[in-house]
Amino acid sequence: MKVYLDNAATTALDKEVFDAMLPYMTEHFGNPSSIHSFGRKTRSGIETARKIIAKNLNVSPSEIFFTSGGTEAINTAIRCAIHDLGIKHAITSKIEHHAVLHCLEVLEKDGKIKLSFVDLDKQGHVDLKNLEALLSSNDKSLVSLMHANNEIGNLLPLKKVGDLCEKYNAIFHCDTTQTMAHYKLDLQGVNVHMVNGAAHKFHGPKGVGFLYLNSKIKINPFMYGGSQERNMRGGTENLYGIVGLGKAFEIAHRDMEAHQAHIQGLKTYMIEQLEKNIPGVEFNGDAKGSSLYTVLNVHFPATENAEMMLFNLDIAGIAASGGSACTSGSNQGSHVLKNIGSDMNRPSVRFSFSKYNTKEEIDFCLSKLKEIFLVKV
Ligand SMILES: Cc1ncc(COP(=O)(O)O)c(C=O)c1O
Repeated sequence: MKVYLDNAATTALDKEVFDAMLPYMTEHFGNPSSIHSFGRKTRSGIETARKIIAKNLNVSPSEIFFTSGGTEAINTAIRCAIHDLGIKHAITSKIEHHAVLHCLEVLEKDGKIKLSFVDLDKQGHVDLKNLEALLSSNDKSLVSLMHANNEIGNLLPLKKVGDLCEKYNAIFHCDTTQTMAHYKLDLQGVNVHMVNGAAHKFHGPKGVGFLYLNSKIKINPFMYGGSQERNMRGGTENLYGIVGLGKAFEIAHRDMEAHQAHIQGLKTYMIEQLEKNIPGVEFNGDAKGSSLYTVLNVHFPATENAEMMLFNLDIAGIAASGGSACTSGSNQGSHVLKNIGSDMNRPSVRFSFSKYNTKEEIDFCLSKLKEIFLVKV
């Protein structure tokens, strides 16, 4: 049995998405900028995808810009906002994805901004009082905080953060890579200027994503070139990627309730079974509280075998991700776990679920974990 529990890293392409993309790899090959019928056909594929995204986010299609994925959208949002909007101060947290952190750290190193890190509580949630203090003691800030943490799953109170940003006239970018198309997001109801998505996190193709840019925000392109994406992102479009992104977005919203219930069920079941069967097990982040339903970060007891956990799980056919130095194979370990004060001597494993996972797979994984921990059943 092969069990894939690494869906926060990437998800399997949905067959329905593949079927929608295929004609754009074969018969519909015109350059979307060409005005002849070949170009008009592919232009219409791109604009259909844009409309699907805009409709579901309750924004205008003109506020959606296609990119090569989450990282490019984030770099565009952060670098261009700082460059073009006169921003001299940015606020983020130490547990953001490196696409955000490294981008802001370079801007600070280059003397473009002062960078502040908001305090986090023990579970890794943003301290809103501290955020307000940082906002009130600095002139126009850029706030970049993620909607759900990709390692521990913590959810940000998006509306509250948006309201604080509005109160202090700050620009708010929210990295929604892990939540996009996993929750319904009505952007008319939140004060957020920029969010981003990546198709491969919701059963779409890899290497394609988008940036939502509120029409009130006027920034220049990150990359210069042709007049594609209304002069915001030059370069011939990733046509079949964008078509796949649109289709994946549509399916995710169509089936969201059922998939959410199914996946949350698997997560809750896994939590219960782990607590029942593995003495001393804990969870990193706020697994039973305000937490992304697709992610469960398990903090195992330190036992001899446990340090080889990921390796043992892989041998058993189970794919998951590491969190601390001893399990990820990296010397540095996870910056997220370190910054929430998780005990780095105990192994942490991130299990992340999708609509394709079954209870049988979770049972199989649990039986292997019990073997690893030599629990008598
Ligand atoms: C929270 C978060 N932000 C950004 C990214 C980067 O997305 P991409 O790999 O599509 O560039 C990821 C991907 O792992 C992520 O989980």
